[in-house]
Amino acid sequence: MRRVKLRLADLDVEFADRDTALRQVEEFAERGTYPVYVIYGPEGCGKTALFRQAKAILEEHGYIVIYFSPMEKEFEYRLSVSDDAKELVKPVLEVLLGENGAKFVERAIELASRVMRYRERVAVLADDIFQAVGLERAEIYVKMLLNLIEYPSAPIERVVVLVGSSEGTTRVRVGRHSWALLRGMWNMSRDGFRELYEQISGEKPSFDEVWRWTGGNPRYLAELYKAEWDVEVVVKGLVRRKGLDKLAKKWRQGLERAVEDPDYLWDEYPRTEGLIQELTELNLLSETGYRDTYLWIDQPPPVDKELGIGEKYAWQTPLHREAVRRILREIGS
Ligand SMILES: Nc1ncnc2c1ncn2[C@@H]1O[C@H](COP(=O)(O)OP(=O)(O)OP(=O)(O)O)[C@@H](O)[C@H]1O
Ligand SMILES: [Mg+2]
Repeated sequence: MRRVKLRLADLDVEFADRDTALRQVEEFAERGTYPVYVIYGPEGCGKTALFRQAKAILEEHGYIVIYFSPMEKEFEYRLSVSDDAKELVKPVLEVLLGENGAKFVERAIELASRVMRYRERVAVLADDIFQAVGLERAEIYVKMLLNLIEYPSAPIERVVVLVGSSEGTTRVRVGRHSWALLRGMWNMSRDGFRELYEQISGEKPSFDEVWRWTGGNPRYLAELYKAEWDVEVVVKGLVRRKGLDKLAKKWRQGLERAVEDPDYLWDEYPRTEGLIQELTELNLLSETGYRDTYLWIDQPPPVDKELGIGEKYAWQTPLHREAVRRILREIGS
């Protein structure tokens, strides 16, 4: 299997690890998906990277792949169609160029439907579409994608539809319908992450240290690398970007407990409901309670209290937890 080339900060890297996920994608290729699969996971855990690798796998299995990612700035990544079908969709592609947000997503789905008239195997990889269409309308778009599978524009052999989302709230909105199967994705496993770490040349902290800070999240590996391994810079960046001062003022006591052990949020539920919701919306916390392997793409996160991964809840990375710790210290008790 060809491993795709990716960027990690300013470095060229090769898609690393994720063997289980790649086998799962091969299964999708062999059987098609029913219904739509929605893959959600921590920011920067590697969903887009997996989609890019999935495109290559699906093409090796004879699929025409339509990949789109409305939040992406570079056009080549906003929308790509397998070479074999480019001529076929040229007119629609040109119209799509000028669209944004929900309109862009609708046009891209139309484009997929058009390709399905002419090809036997079609895959739609819709990356990060919920932010573009508005979270409150996420379900409608999942239903549109399901229609591609249930009512193809012409008889077709196999269809694969995968949707990627970093929004923890996806789970509640999409999960209540039978239109999609939700699959969690977590940061990389320790061994897999080491493969990626080793692709970074130059002087760097020990693998153990990088692992303890990132918990295997490739985006935060890139952030640390860009900050010349200065944890302080990355943590401060998180505090500012996520506006943690207000959160800490509002929920100080709950947060003090949750940084010690995220499962506190479950133990004290439903008193902690509002805090859980805010932490989820800010992409600081993920729910990890259902650990059956079939509910995950790749592997579920092993409980590891040192990394902030509890039975029921987990900090997205130790750096996220550290950002909360820092702001708690700053506002004092
Ligand atoms: N398996 C992998 N091998 C090599 N690089 C990877 C891998 N997974 C992710 N990366 C790199 O790590 C960074 C973050 O990954 P990616 O953009 O896929 O995360 P994401 O889950 O899509 O994030 P977001 O939630 O923000 O959309 C990217 O630079 C990507 O190229
Ligand atoms: Mg992404």
